[in-house]
Amino acid sequence: MCGIAGYVGPDDALPVLLNALHRVEYRGYDSCGVAIHNGNAGSGSRRIEVAKAVGYVDDLRAATGPIPGGVGIGHTRWATVGSPSKLNAHPHLDCTGRVAVVHNGSVENHYQLREELRQRGHRFRSETDTEVLAHLLEEYGSTPEGVAEALARVQGPYAIAVLFEGSDSIIAARRGSPIIIGLGDGENMVGSDVPAVLERANGFIHLEDGDIATVSASGVEIRHRGEAVRRRVHHVRWGPEVVDKGGYEHFLLKEIHEQPRVLRDTLAGRISADGHVNLGLGLDRRTPPEELFLLGCGSAAHAAMVGEAFLAALSDTRVQALEASEMVRPKRRGPGAWSVLVSQSGETADTVDAARDARRAGHFTLALTNVPESSITRAAHAIHHLRAGQEVSVASTKTYLAQLVGLYLLGLELFPPSDRRRRQMAAALRRLPEAVQQALAMAPQLEMLGTRLAAAEHAFIIGKGINYPTALEGAWKFKEVAYLHAEGFASGELKHGPFALLDTDTPVIAIMPRDDTYERMLVAVEEIHARGAPIIALTDCDNAELQSIAQSVVCLPPTDPMFTPVVSTAALQLMVYYCGLARGCPIDRPRNLAKSVTVH
Ligand code: G6P
Repeated sequence: MCGIAGYVGPDDALPVLLNALHRVEYRGYDSCGVAIHNGNAGSGSRRIEVAKAVGYVDDLRAATGPIPGGVGIGHTRWATVGSPSKLNAHPHLDCTGRVAVVHNGSVENHYQLREELRQRGHRFRSETDTEVLAHLLEEYGSTPEGVAEALARVQGPYAIAVLFEGSDSIIAARRGSPIIIGLGDGENMVGSDVPAVLERANGFIHLEDGDIATVSASGVEIRHRGEAVRRRVHHVRWGPEVVDKGGYEHFLLKEIHEQPRVLRDTLAGRISADGHVNLGLGLDRRTPPEELFLLGCGSAAHAAMVGEAFLAALSDTRVQALEASEMVRPKRRGPGAWSVLVSQSGETADTVDAARDARRAGHFTLALTNVPESSITRAAHAIHHLRAGQEVSVASTKTYLAQLVGLYLLGLELFPPSDRRRRQMAAALRRLPEAVQQALAMAPQLEMLGTRLAAAEHAFIIGKGINYPTALEGAWKFKEVAYLHAEGFASGELKHGPFALLDTDTPVIAIMPRDDTYERMLVAVEEIHARGAPIIALTDCDNAELQSIAQSVVCLPPTDPMFTPVVSTAALQLMVYYCGLARGCPIDRPRNLAKSVTVH
């Protein structure tokens, strides 16, 4: 959730760290800081110098003068324990100033440890749980064994990078939260994820839980339970340009426009000419699902709901979508119980926990994720990779559409429909990237509508059947990106309560493709019209009756009724983007949010 970076090499660490932190800023951006071993090896008077700022990495850059020294660590924070402030920003030092630590995770027993350390004379400056680690590490010393002993006292997940005064290396360790080592040429890096190490690394290593790595300019030594171990080296397949905006004003807009390509990648090689899907996961060798749970958080939970509607339409199997945090103590089940974990990052704490709990309860667990080497892929039996590429903007767009298509593919492999219908659906899936492209080409109309919505205080979004989750996802996006209070409703529910809020200043977006819910949606839209609320209809046909009651009609390209959430979501995303732009919102970094939430 927070971003970590570390550098050891011949160059000054500060500029490398600032660039690295900038690239992982989507993981947290309420404050940031660096700790640099000031001076060069052998210079005698080296000490750890710290610079911190509240706000963005650019604020830190502006406030910090040059600090010489080729060893340093840095952090960009999403506050958990302790408010966002300079004092609470990482790195944290112990009282001697000889140990600096950056941390991702949570020290669950920090009250107890703090009290113990206080009694032994340690003095604390911040409110954070992380500071406890600095004091603890100071007591146990700078060797990997000492670090392991100190960490054995800690409850809760962590990924840390530590700098000890006098040392020319960084120590990195993990349990439950990811951390990687980037391997360069005569220099090495540490990072919370790949973008942090992109500038200098051509390969990287994922540390395993319990690993303690000593990272120097010339090499990396990893110890696990006291033994030296080797970990697989992955090649960096992308350059720094992958995390650049590519000419767009915001990552969000870039990622929205990448969607046709992403859908092509997600579909590639997974669907045969006659419409048979094979995800290559050996699912046919498993006991077929008798009961199937679809679990995720945030947008991934909305994707799971679309998956539920789709899978339930294809089979009689009991399918249930749940927010992962609501999967409390799943019942013990036989091999016919499946849990599908939907998570872009593969790191969302509630989803990872749900994966572990479901597995423990005997479910077959399948992770649908964008990050093949993530906590969820360690927890689950099998991985269905989304192939959406790096998503930087906090609000998920391209990964959401990839999740939908990933779930469609899963449904078609598990419950293939009759020949004719299967071929029809396969053809529609193949045309989906083009349909999304056409929807995105409607940007001028969507911009006009989004800009007009910027003046509203509240908005409703309604949908039905497989597009009810689209309404929820659209409302979610308006809240996140445009700070507009929007609520998503099942169209039939409006008159049971929310109608009380409806007035002529409450725009209602109706998602109403011409499927078997259309007539019912039309009734709901007429009822709204009768109460004077302005209506924006997102449909796929030019329809005279709609033209007369809706203030605006957006005619989206048609697709199979099951796949309309993909097209209508793409249109909503653009509307949200322009609404957020008109409201002056920090599009890629909404306040208080983080890209992946690795704490409970
Ligand atoms: C955060 C993000 C959301 C995302 C959710 C689940 O809250 O801001 O955009 O939908 O986490 O993330 P995941 O990585 O598990 O899909």
